[in-house]
Amino acid sequence: MCGIVGYIGFRDAYPILINGLKRLEYRGYDSAGVALISDNDEHLNIYKEKGKVAVLENSLADKDLSGTIGMAHTRWATHGEPSSINAHPHLSQSGRLAIVHNGIIENYASLKKYLAGKGFTFKSCTDTEVLVQLIEYMQQTYNLCVAQATRYALRKVVGAYAIVVMDKEHPDELVAARKSSPLVVGIGEDNKEFLIASDALPIAGYTHNMVYLNDEEVVLLRRNQPMSVKNLKNEDVNIDVKQVDIDIDKLEKGGYDHYMLKEIFEQPKAISDCMRGRLLQKKHQIVLSAINLHREQLINAKRFIIIACGTSWHAGLIGKQYIENYCDVPVAVEYASEFRYRNPVIMPDDVVIAISQSGETADTLAAFQLAKAHHALCFGIVNAVGSSVARESDTGIYTHVGPEIGVASTKAFTGQVMVLALFSLALAKAKGTIGQKDYEEIIDELSIIPEKIKVVLQQNDRIKEIAKTYTYARNFLYMGRGYNYPVAMEGALKLKEISYIHAEGYPAAEMKHGPIALVDAEMPVVFVATHHQLYTKIISNIEEVKARNGRVLAVVTQGDTSVRKLAEHIIEVPPTIAPLAPLLSVIPLQLLAYHVAVEKGLNVDQPRNLAKSVTVE
Ligand code: M6R
Repeated sequence: MCGIVGYIGFRDAYPILINGLKRLEYRGYDSAGVALISDNDEHLNIYKEKGKVAVLENSLADKDLSGTIGMAHTRWATHGEPSSINAHPHLSQSGRLAIVHNGIIENYASLKKYLAGKGFTFKSCTDTEVLVQLIEYMQQTYNLCVAQATRYALRKVVGAYAIVVMDKEHPDELVAARKSSPLVVGIGEDNKEFLIASDALPIAGYTHNMVYLNDEEVVLLRRNQPMSVKNLKNEDVNIDVKQVDIDIDKLEKGGYDHYMLKEIFEQPKAISDCMRGRLLQKKHQIVLSAINLHREQLINAKRFIIIACGTSWHAGLIGKQYIENYCDVPVAVEYASEFRYRNPVIMPDDVVIAISQSGETADTLAAFQLAKAHHALCFGIVNAVGSSVARESDTGIYTHVGPEIGVASTKAFTGQVMVLALFSLALAKAKGTIGQKDYEEIIDELSIIPEKIKVVLQQNDRIKEIAKTYTYARNFLYMGRGYNYPVAMEGALKLKEISYIHAEGYPAAEMKHGPIALVDAEMPVVFVATHHQLYTKIISNIEEVKARNGRVLAVVTQGDTSVRKLAEHIIEVPPTIAPLAPLLSVIPLQLLAYHVAVEKGLNVDQPRNLAKSVTVE
């Protein structure tokens, strides 16, 4: 939520900032702005526009944008509607300081009242403007440099922040700080330049040397000088430089109309990358260092608690079935946002698994930190390397599916399911709760899943045609059972978030306890009815919908004859074993949601009101 980029060095800052914002636009896109200190007259120039980064870029086409220091922001509104006034950067009262911010200052109202009593006035409705005024107040009252004034101000702040601050009196310095919202510093060769951003994507391409700031750290960046990091108590902090390699090509659309479509089509490769070096098919082995390193704790765990949000939570529901089936140990799957606030019982012999694509989801991170405080083993399943959840983990497994840019999560989901399958099988083997024959059968099947996904993707054109017949709908139901029940929920989430059609996913047997009342000739009902456990039962559920004139679209196993007779549309997936069905059956639902949204003329990659990385609670 909200993307930040900053630059200080020897190059023109503007192209770096605007291109960086484009890479971060998945985080928010209701307004954007940039601040530059001109090399010519040392004037601090601020430009802001409501709308996407492209609107800002177009509005600046004929401006003099010189300057080798600057910062930029793309916003996801929290306090105050999207508008150019509420857009960042915000200026302090005197116009000396400028700030960009990601997060929420929870005590902004009391701080604002205090500052108003000191004569400060406010132009915007944002909590961010309060913070920059507070920094200025500290600077003026105690005659401080901007880094120290920022530390003083942040000591008074309750909430989450990633900020960059510029002082026009010091065009050779950039100050930044974080708490609960991510911030990464990129270090150029010989400290000649520094980049700072909400994630590594805008920095990749300039340097591999990156420093992930920790909570309550304030960094001072100056050209040709080593960066310095202090905590809020003004103590020096050790700087841990990481080598981060990101394939820039993966950040482009690669010929696809949208990132989402590209990411759907990347799934065979992404899943192979996820298995690489871990699933040794010929030896029938799964090698996961995360398990080897914490073998005893994992084997002896009395319970697993999976915490996640959104799509990652759906993957967790599938993971629960894997771990319970193969490892014989109970699993609770919790919405992180509920778990963190309801005083949950967490035992030291619990293992808490956080699942997160971004690794920055505020609720997941807070729930994980709670688990850590209760001395549970904290196990992260994360896609974004070096992200906050990854760094909070005692151990874990990266999904390694590559950067996911589309707001609607697709390849991250299949990557998470794959990791959960590998994890549960490796643990079951270590515990002796799975037979060799079953173990080998699943390993063999896992190894050919990427080829089977390719077969599903070949039906893209047909799914596009089918999608056209459903764009009228205002509501959809999705039904599945067993391993396909979380898939039904995931299909519904995909549709609602990008097509704005209300959709609900249910376990099919629950239909008669309420949702069936909604079924009429207008109501599309998507059944995930592959040829597995409960297949005959789900056929009965389809009959019930048909009896009420509902429109049935079904995802079925190749060669299915029974559902074919009942459904208006069917989409076939290759046969596989029941536990792996989600890896195939979710693909047509991703494509269906995509094509419905495209048919409706909607912005698939940046749906309204959403952001890719939900760093506010
Ligand atoms: O980055 P995370 O996996 O922690 O994100 C969790 C959810 O915000 C995310 O899955 C969201 O539901 C997606 N937009 C779904 O497509």
